[in-house]
Amino acid sequence: MTQPTPPKIQVKGLSKTFGTFTALQPTDLDIAQGEFLTLLGPSGSGKTTLLQMVAGLLEPTSGQLLVDGVDWTRRPVNQRGVGLVFQHYALFPHMTVAENVAFPLKMRRIPADQIRQRVEETLKKVELDRFAHRFPRELSGGQQQRVALARCFVFRPEVILMDEPLGALDKALRETMQLEIRRLHKEFGTTLIYVTHDQEEALVMSDRICVMNHARIEQLGTPHEIYADPRTVFAASFIGHSNLIGGRLAGAAGDLHLLDTPAGRFAARMTGQSAEALTLVIRPEDLRLGPAPDAGFNQVTATLRDVIFVGAENRLLFVLPDGTELMASAKGDLPEPGASVALHWRKDRGRIVS
Ligand SMILES: Nc1ncnc2c1ncn2[C@@H]1O[C@H](COP(=O)(O)OP(=O)(O)OP(=O)(O)O)[C@@H](O)[C@H]1O
Ligand SMILES: [Mg+2]
Repeated sequence: MTQPTPPKIQVKGLSKTFGTFTALQPTDLDIAQGEFLTLLGPSGSGKTTLLQMVAGLLEPTSGQLLVDGVDWTRRPVNQRGVGLVFQHYALFPHMTVAENVAFPLKMRRIPADQIRQRVEETLKKVELDRFAHRFPRELSGGQQQRVALARCFVFRPEVILMDEPLGALDKALRETMQLEIRRLHKEFGTTLIYVTHDQEEALVMSDRICVMNHARIEQLGTPHEIYADPRTVFAASFIGHSNLIGGRLAGAAGDLHLLDTPAGRFAARMTGQSAEALTLVIRPEDLRLGPAPDAGFNQVTATLRDVIFVGAENRLLFVLPDGTELMASAKGDLPEPGASVALHWRKDRGRIVS
């Protein structure tokens, strides 16, 4: 039998307080060798705090950090050898692109001919070889950020930490760079922790997403797991669009639970923690027009309020008699706004979250 690979990075009860303010509750997190893990959450949720403690830029209040099983908690930042890329590229302004990228190799006393070769190779990978002799001020923002990526990947660190590295770029360039970072990550097999508050970015790039809220991890899983089985209202609404209907538990039926809501009693899978007040989550693509075909479906009647054209499909905005809004996505023939319409969805597609 093969031994399971030990985690590359182990965060054990790591916490940070500033005076009486808690920036990060005691947090446990294992990151596998070669994994792309994203910390996703709103502003102030503790993402940068956690990342900076892994980088060694911030001293933890409590807890332990292990890398390859070795205690790194008090190891100085310059002895960690991790690659860092932040939102503001912080290139050396007086050095050319090639000199910037060569810098980490020079620091490591790599022989000059090897440096030349590695710099050339890496600049090609980020498609900047033509700009090797320019200075940072002679480059666009996106090009500068690509230099920052090259300067990070060039010394082949085993661990790379990135804090909103694409935050300053426009949407089109951000999407190109997302794929670029993904490709570089795969090619070098680096273990990468990436911080963003952009859910789409997290979905596109990550092996696993760590959803953070109020100084703690709210949910950890693959993008698909979190989308399909959110455990909390926060996770459900932070990743993808969710229809939310509040209610109270009314019992169980097989592997489904029943929720009493102002719009009726619905069966769904329970993914949240049992509590008095719970919420039913239905994704827009699970809602279908028309009456329920059989007992495997829930049904409601709602008024169509608006139809929004978004390209490949339409978003239909419905309202239930109690005022709850529901969004469905649909193609083809649609009812007129104002029409009263039956809607249905599979019972096993609904989720009851806390
Ligand atoms: N040096 C500090 N002193 C006091 N409070 C701090 C300090 N650094 C961070 N905080 C607080 O800790 C909380 C978490 O900050 P952090 O920078 O980790 O958030 P974040 O999730 O990275 O947010 P953003 O998306 O805005 O970058 C915030 O409320 C912040 O104000
Ligand atoms: Mg931050």
